[in-house]
Amino acid sequence: DPDAAVIHVDPARVLADIDDKIYCGFLEHLGRCIYGGIVDYDCKIPGLTNDKGFRLDVADAIKDLRMPMIRYPGGNFVSAYHWMDGVGPKENRPVRPELAWRGREPNLFGTDEFMEWCEFMNVEPYLCFNMGTGTLDEALAWLEYCNSDDDTYYANLRRKNGHDKPYNVKYWGLGNEVWNAWVVGQMTAEDYAKKADEWGKVLKMLDPSIILVACGFDGLHTWEYTVTQKLINVCDMYSIHQYTCNYDHIQNVSCTAAAERAIQIVAKLIDLSRITNQASKRTMKIAMDEWNVWDYKRANGENGAEEHYDLSDALAVAAWGNVFVRQAAHLGMANLAQCVNVIAPIMARPDGIFLQTTYHTWKLLSHYMRGKSLALHVGSPMYEGPLDNTHGDIPWLQDIESGIPMLDVSAALNDKKIYLSVVNRSETEAIKTRINLLGEYEEKVHVWSVYHEDVRAKNSFENPTNVGIEEWEYGLGEVKEGVVFREHSYTLLELRLK
Ligand code: AHR
Repeated sequence: DPDAAVIHVDPARVLADIDDKIYCGFLEHLGRCIYGGIVDYDCKIPGLTNDKGFRLDVADAIKDLRMPMIRYPGGNFVSAYHWMDGVGPKENRPVRPELAWRGREPNLFGTDEFMEWCEFMNVEPYLCFNMGTGTLDEALAWLEYCNSDDDTYYANLRRKNGHDKPYNVKYWGLGNEVWNAWVVGQMTAEDYAKKADEWGKVLKMLDPSIILVACGFDGLHTWEYTVTQKLINVCDMYSIHQYTCNYDHIQNVSCTAAAERAIQIVAKLIDLSRITNQASKRTMKIAMDEWNVWDYKRANGENGAEEHYDLSDALAVAAWGNVFVRQAAHLGMANLAQCVNVIAPIMARPDGIFLQTTYHTWKLLSHYMRGKSLALHVGSPMYEGPLDNTHGDIPWLQDIESGIPMLDVSAALNDKKIYLSVVNRSETEAIKTRINLLGEYEEKVHVWSVYHEDVRAKNSFENPTNVGIEEWEYGLGEVKEGVVFREHSYTLLELRLK
């Protein structure tokens, strides 16, 4: 049916700039993310690592995701992490019990190794303070170690450890999931806001140029109200963590609706906080600080959270990206959790890597959905069945009654090109869609697509290219008349303005 769906595109309807930082990543000392993913200090294969032990195949794959910044070292791990354990001569570094994921932390990779890796990768570092077992003194010492050029103790310790120049780390998180009973230091919103306010003021005395990220919940709790109210004058960003998943395909690709709703709610709360605190000049952008598809039952943290993703998950990841582009006005950052082995688009073993299904959709979004976000009008068949997110224990979406569009679309205007990013969520129905275009366009329309006839198709070490990116071209006339978006597919169209 040619009238099943329609997308209206108007290049003049710019919503907001898309911050490049929506394409950031996250690395945690969890499972095989750092040891066995980022570094392999026991590598037996010549050329697979460099002289610092960095895995070169992993590095290349991460590079091609074009992440401008990477968050480290956790995650829940950070709530019992003492950064001093991870600096100085390696033979003196203590092996510690690891409380978050119940292992052992050898501390062979720490602050200086992370900074060296960031430099090698050409990505900006983003660090998170330990607000569990950590103290303000320890946080101040870390900030001084990283950013101070003065003749003082921790700046000199960095020099002694071989790093003359400060690292100038701009982004710092004030704790990780401190609402969570997971590790240590669980707090009420009021207690957290009071502590973060004190820490934030003192940390900014030492380095007023830092950008502080407040610890939010999932964007759907009263926590967000209390913390935005109390921290608007100290913090520069507000974080949300969300993971989605459902074994049922349509629900798997639809529960990103919770993230979109959370962003909209928190944006309003920030606005309200500006009003009630007479802080009209303050900007507080939202950081989707950790996000991904994660079935906690399939891949729990104690077992290294090694998710093996299928095409359905790759489409869910693309739907996540569409949320970020549509909500670009509110978002200052989003961090794909995580980069390698642990709920990640890249899987590594000692002799090589393979790229998961999710890698391919995320790569397309990261390469092309930049610039400016465009408002769209989309007419689409709707999904109106049950909707739940089985990652957590919160039935977040039961009240979304208006349905979820089968076609999930976002648009970016980048350098006289319009990119239409389209997930067809339907498991069984191809959807023919008229594309109504305002403006003059070149004749050739480039297309990238991620598709497999089996929505459960995966990549693996044995079959690494089972799901990948296909490319072809349409004529402009064909596009206007109607593009067929295949069932359970991702499609990216490039329309070149004249
Ligand atoms: O990314 C894995 C874990 O998920 C992080 O450690 C924690 O912050 C979140 O719950």
